[in-house]
Amino acid sequence: YLALSTELFSEVTNNINQSKLVTIGNLNQSIIFEKPFGHDLYSAKEINQMLWNYFDEKQIYRIDHYLGKEMIQNIMMVRFANRIFEEIWHNRIIKNVKIYAKETDGILGRAGYYDQLGALRDMVQSHLLQILSLVAMEVPVTYHSDDVKDEKIKVLSHLHFDSDSLILGQYDGYLNENNIPSDSTTETFVFFKAYVNTPRFKGVPFYLMSGKKLDKKESLIEIEFEETSEQRKWNLPLSTNKLFIKIAPEDGMGLVLNSKVPGLRDDVEPVELEYCVACNEFGNLTEAYEKLIIDIVGQHKTLLTRWDEIEL
Ligand code: BG6
Repeated sequence: YLALSTELFSEVTNNINQSKLVTIGNLNQSIIFEKPFGHDLYSAKEINQMLWNYFDEKQIYRIDHYLGKEMIQNIMMVRFANRIFEEIWHNRIIKNVKIYAKETDGILGRAGYYDQLGALRDMVQSHLLQILSLVAMEVPVTYHSDDVKDEKIKVLSHLHFDSDSLILGQYDGYLNENNIPSDSTTETFVFFKAYVNTPRFKGVPFYLMSGKKLDKKESLIEIEFEETSEQRKWNLPLSTNKLFIKIAPEDGMGLVLNSKVPGLRDDVEPVELEYCVACNEFGNLTEAYEKLIIDIVGQHKTLLTRWDEIEL
């Protein structure tokens, strides 16, 4: 299981191969690896080529722990097992999508790792784009790994970044963290707008944001729907329906509807229907890594990432 800095990669994989800890083609032996997948396209390709030199693709597991999180696994269920969402999941009804991962912690002593990467590579390349592709993809033929990935790939290859919207930031005090160079310009905050130019999502802005040392810990997907024509005709408040898929600090969902203000006023107000996963479960919830490692032992790859996703 390798969670290594890029420059150690070649030596370690070579030694694993030399020592026959993992021999090519033996499916009872697997190699798991975590980001960073290099620091740019070229170095990512180099790392991947090295893996292919020493191991069979079937033995390689590229982990993204967000994919093991309860509510991220749930995106497909919410979309495809609910008639009410399946029918309206497109650009005629969806107004915009927000995908946020806000953290209150700083870099927690991981200077050596973090300063080389920054928020874009640490959180966006991996976790947020995985979420985006699950939200925007077409219905996969089956839940089988390759079918799901083939659909995610189509999203990633139609992704267009609005570079004018990009905001990068660095939190106050970052330069005083241990082992951070005093002139580091590494970003700890990133925000931008992107579009998925598929027939389903063309024209719908996706707002992505992630940062450290922000006001609260919150990872969230917000799907905002268009207003109804009656809201305008009847001069009602233009508050919109929203679906929240809540990833942290608590797993859950929220659905914001418009409802009459109780009592004598003829007015409308937004109300939220809430589902909290932990409130309905006994004992500990499964950790993302537990689920992924169990899947790896069982050789199930649906929740792991494939090389072409990383490459794109
Ligand atoms: C990791 C990043 O992949 O995800 C960290 O390297 C980040 O910088 C972490 O803090 C966030 O994960 P979680 O599960 O705490 O939301």
